[in-house]
Amino acid sequence: MLFNGLSEVGDDPILLVSTMFKASKDPNKVDLGVGVYKDAQGHTAILNSVKKAEQFLVENQETKTYLSPAGNPEFNALAQNMMLGEDHAAVKENRVSTFQTPGGTGGIRIGLEFVKACNANANIWISDPTWPNHTAITKALDLNPKQYRYYDIKRGEFLYQEMLEDLSAAQAGDVVILHGCCHNASGADLSHAQWNELADLMLDKGLVPFVDFAYQGFANGIEEDSYSARLIAKKLPEALIASSCSKNFAMYRDRAGAITLISPSADVHGTNKSHMLKAVRANYSMPPDHGAAVAAHILGNPDLKAEWMTEVDEMRNRVKKMRALFVEKMDKKAPNSGFGYIKEQNGMFSYLTLSAEQIQTLINDHSIFFMANGRVNMAGLTEANIDYVTDAIASLFKS
Ligand code: LMR
Repeated sequence: MLFNGLSEVGDDPILLVSTMFKASKDPNKVDLGVGVYKDAQGHTAILNSVKKAEQFLVENQETKTYLSPAGNPEFNALAQNMMLGEDHAAVKENRVSTFQTPGGTGGIRIGLEFVKACNANANIWISDPTWPNHTAITKALDLNPKQYRYYDIKRGEFLYQEMLEDLSAAQAGDVVILHGCCHNASGADLSHAQWNELADLMLDKGLVPFVDFAYQGFANGIEEDSYSARLIAKKLPEALIASSCSKNFAMYRDRAGAITLISPSADVHGTNKSHMLKAVRANYSMPPDHGAAVAAHILGNPDLKAEWMTEVDEMRNRVKKMRALFVEKMDKKAPNSGFGYIKEQNGMFSYLTLSAEQIQTLINDHSIFFMANGRVNMAGLTEANIDYVTDAIASLFKS
């Protein structure tokens, strides 16, 4: 029998946390697992701007006929603009195209399929640690994953020099997956000066950046966070950028995202586009429209866009507040626990510098669910649960 020979594969380590949280009957349980924003009430609400745009679509959308493998053209233009700005030189040179994809994950998949069409033996450099799906998608495509050092989980330290050292050993044509902001999973980001130095290194060595840009707006703001993408599109002749509306529009299940292709010249760009679109057609034919239509309506309407930007600011500021409160409480409850770094990090994630045994104690004895490697979603903390969480962590430091 064809379907008789498989052996079980493990669950995705992030989705596993959601399963464990749902299964727990503990009334005090806390979910610090999957990267989803929660408000002060611990609820993942639909943004008001999104609701209004959905209402507009219900009343005004006239057809649901097919679009094309590239997806919603208004969305593509506006999403590109949000990332690269109005007047980016690479755009003016007609060598940039954005294709709507099912979420940022779809963008990574299509981008790596494109890489494979260019070179089936390409090396894909992935940060250690990273979002586990970077490696999973690379392996699913039979591409060659390689790791560069990025963050020391046990010490809570960004390994910038080690990153440069490892990437200096990469070969021309190798692809480097970078986190545009809010590194998933460490929350440790490069400074502007470091992005510049890294971009120069990649240019010098002929490396191809692939920016995973899933958290625009969660570090310092929509405009501010685009620094890395704009710099790379300016300094490097070729690049890929996968972006997402899951987090900043809180449209997780609507799967709206994009892959942006930057070719070395307008001459080869048409051919490159054709390969990208071929990959889309052979995967899912064309992306789902709803989330992209919502985002396009918001981004194309100045009032709604202003309302949405305020909502993004609120989400970002609440996570920052929880980071600061967490550190303040830990400093009081366990003065030498050393979590000060958490206040300096960006986005939803940070690692708790705890041993594997301490992590299991928090999960098993306190029903605080997060990844077994220590990654926590700081956006899952609220004023209502932060004392429970910090008390539990502080108890690990009492002998
Ligand atoms: C995460 O890292 O938790 C998010 O990006 C959600 C996911 O799909 O893994």
